[in-house]
Amino acid sequence: MNETAQVKTVLITGATSGIGLEFAKVCAGLNYNIIAIGKDPGKLNSLKSELEGKFFIKVDTVKADLSNTEEVLKLSDYVDSFDTGIDILINNAGTGVYGEFKDTDFTKELSLINVNVVALSYITKIILKKMLRRGKGKILNVASTAAFKPGPLMAVYYASKAYVLSFSVAVAREIKDTGVSLTVLCPGPVNTKLLKESTHIELQFIDYEKMSDPEDIAIAGMKALERNEIVTIPGFRNKLNAFLVKLIPSKVLMDILYRSKKNSLKQS
Ligand SMILES: NC(=O)c1ccc[n+]([C@@H]2O[C@H](COP(=O)([O-])OP(=O)(O)OC[C@H]3O[C@@H](n4cnc5c(N)ncnc54)[C@H](OP(=O)(O)O)[C@@H]3O)[C@@H](O)[C@H]2O)c1
Repeated sequence: MNETAQVKTVLITGATSGIGLEFAKVCAGLNYNIIAIGKDPGKLNSLKSELEGKFFIKVDTVKADLSNTEEVLKLSDYVDSFDTGIDILINNAGTGVYGEFKDTDFTKELSLINVNVVALSYITKIILKKMLRRGKGKILNVASTAAFKPGPLMAVYYASKAYVLSFSVAVAREIKDTGVSLTVLCPGPVNTKLLKESTHIELQFIDYEKMSDPEDIAIAGMKALERNEIVTIPGFRNKLNAFLVKLIPSKVLMDILYRSKKNSLKQS
């Protein structure tokens, strides 16, 4: 096999910070060329310099605000022009909004839905079609343990992650035995900008010691992708949590979650 045939490419959304940045580092370490989609040209350039400086790989950057549907739809032009093929897609970009739904800013929630739901679905569609034509490829969609239950005071975020889980599991079934796989990663709390910025109040009752490190989550995601797992929840506590919430009647669970978060709000 010649050298060009061995080059593999991963496309990562939200590779400029947190879990996505760690995915980019892990993939660079595995010699994947990277296509990084992000909204901030400065951060994309730093990522390119950092990874191309440390690893013998190529990083292409694509500036796109995933909350803007027009910019998302234009990504198909880029994907069509990329003829060497995308081996892995990591739909990681995500954003959160915290607060009582009656009080939160709907423009932020609209952006959240566009990034977490619309962009993820569209990017999955355009790249999945290409992968199916090649008969190979792997897709990793980042959901959350938030996908397993409704989340009072983060209602839209939790609902968006429930969408990612449901959508991904359904599509994974549709593409069974095609050579293309779809995995959905459901981390619990991870120490990143998203958690700090959008859930500053919730952090009061999150135990820092028990928060995952973004690098560990990226490694767990890549391992699950390698094993073609459909749903993967990193960490025993998170697995247990996802299981236990199914046993508690929804009304009781919502009361517990709402009251504990509300008390935390009052103390802040
Ligand atoms: N942190 C947690 O506790 C946790 C737990 C479970 C699941 N997750 C999920 O993990 C994923 C990564 O989140 P993270 O925790 O690593 O947060 P993060 O550090 O805030 O990273 C989010 C990434 O998404 C990008 N992004 C946000 N809005 C975008 C937009 N409109 N257009 C393009 N890119 C955009 C960000 O770009 P900029 O750098 O330019 O802002 C950043 O690269 C998300 O899907 C999140 O829901 C997180």
